[in-house]
Amino acid sequence: MDTLILGIESSCDETAAGVVKNGREVLSNVINTQIDFHKKYGGVVPEIASRKHIENIDSVIDEALENAGVTLADIDAVAVTYGPGLVGALLVGVSEAKAIAYASDKPLIPVHHIRGHISANFISHKELEPPFVCLVASGGHSHIVEVCSYTDFKVLGRTRDDAAGEAFDKIARVLGLGYPGGPLIDKLAKEGNPTAVEFPRVKMDKDSLDFSFSGVKTAVINFLHKADQKGETVNKADIAASFQNAVTDALCEHTIEGALRTGHKTVAIAGGVAANSQLRKKMTDMCAKHGISVVYPPSVLCTDNAVMIACSGYYSYREGEFAGLDLNAVPNLPLT
Ligand code: KG4
Ligand code: ZN
Repeated sequence: MDTLILGIESSCDETAAGVVKNGREVLSNVINTQIDFHKKYGGVVPEIASRKHIENIDSVIDEALENAGVTLADIDAVAVTYGPGLVGALLVGVSEAKAIAYASDKPLIPVHHIRGHISANFISHKELEPPFVCLVASGGHSHIVEVCSYTDFKVLGRTRDDAAGEAFDKIARVLGLGYPGGPLIDKLAKEGNPTAVEFPRVKMDKDSLDFSFSGVKTAVINFLHKADQKGETVNKADIAASFQNAVTDALCEHTIEGALRTGHKTVAIAGGVAANSQLRKKMTDMCAKHGISVVYPPSVLCTDNAVMIACSGYYSYREGEFAGLDLNAVPNLPLT
C-alpha cells in the first residue's frame, strides 16, 4: 500500500508544501519564496516572514494537493517542521498542520528541519540508504552528521559561531552584491582567482570536526576596509572566489575526515550551501581520492522546501513517531 505524506515547511522565508509518495517520489513541490520582501533589508525580517506565511500557507497547501492530484482524504499523515527556525514563522506551519491533522483525523508528524535537509538526498538518489555522512550547510546551520539510520543521527561536528550560509550572505552584503548572498558569490567567483588572497582556514583542536567561519568573515571585511582606507580598488570576483575557496576547503576537509573516522563510503551534502558549484565539485574530487562517493540534491531541493520534510516525515511515520495536538514550535531544537 502506498503512503502519501503532506509536508509543510515555514521555518524561515519560504512557505512550502509538497506531497511525497513512499518517502521517495515527489507528487508535488510548491515553494512560495519571500525573498523579494526581505531583500531590501539585506536579510530575513522575522515579523515580515510570519505575516507572509499566514497570508500564503492555505493557497500553497491547496496548490500542493491539486498538483499532486489528491485531496486531504488521500493523505496518510501531515508532516511539519517544528524547529529549528524563527519561532513566529514555525508557529504558522505548526498551527496549520495541527488544524489539518485534527480536521481530517490524520496523524501529525513533527520534523526536525536539518533531518529534512538530509532527506532531500533520498529523493534525488533513490538508491541511497543509511549509513553515510552528511554535511548540512545552510543559512542557519553547519553540521557534519553521521546518518546511522533513517531516524538515528549523530552530530560529528558543528559550527562554533556563524553558519556557512550566513558567512556567504554577510560577505555578499559587504561586497554590495545583494541578498541572498550564496548564489551571487557562487556566480561572481567563477570570474575570479580563488588563490588571489589567502584567507584563514581555522583549525580547531586536532580531534574536533567543528567549524568556525567568523574568522574568515572578519578577515575578508578587514581586507576590504584596509583597501578602502588606502583608496585601492579591489577585484570583487577575486575576493568572492578566495572567500568561497576558504569556506569550501573547511567544509570538505572536515566532512571527509568525518567519513574516514566513521568508515562510511558515501558522503551526502545538503542545505542551501550544497547548491554551491565549487563545493559540489571540490567535495566530489577530494572524496574520489579516498574512494568515497558523493551525492547531493538538485539546487531546488537544497534550499528550503517541503518535500524534504515529507520525506523525513515518511520515515518517522514508519516508526510511529507522531506528535499530539499540543505540538509547539521549538526555535533551538537540537538534532539529537
Ligand atoms: O537551507 P536554506 O534555504 O535555509 C536555511 O535553512 O538556512 O539555506 C539558505 C542559505 C543562504 O545563506 C544562501 O546564501 C545559501 O544557503 N546558498 C548558497 C548557495 N545557494 C544558497 N550558498 C553558497 N552557494 C550557493 N550557490
Ligand atoms: Zn533550511
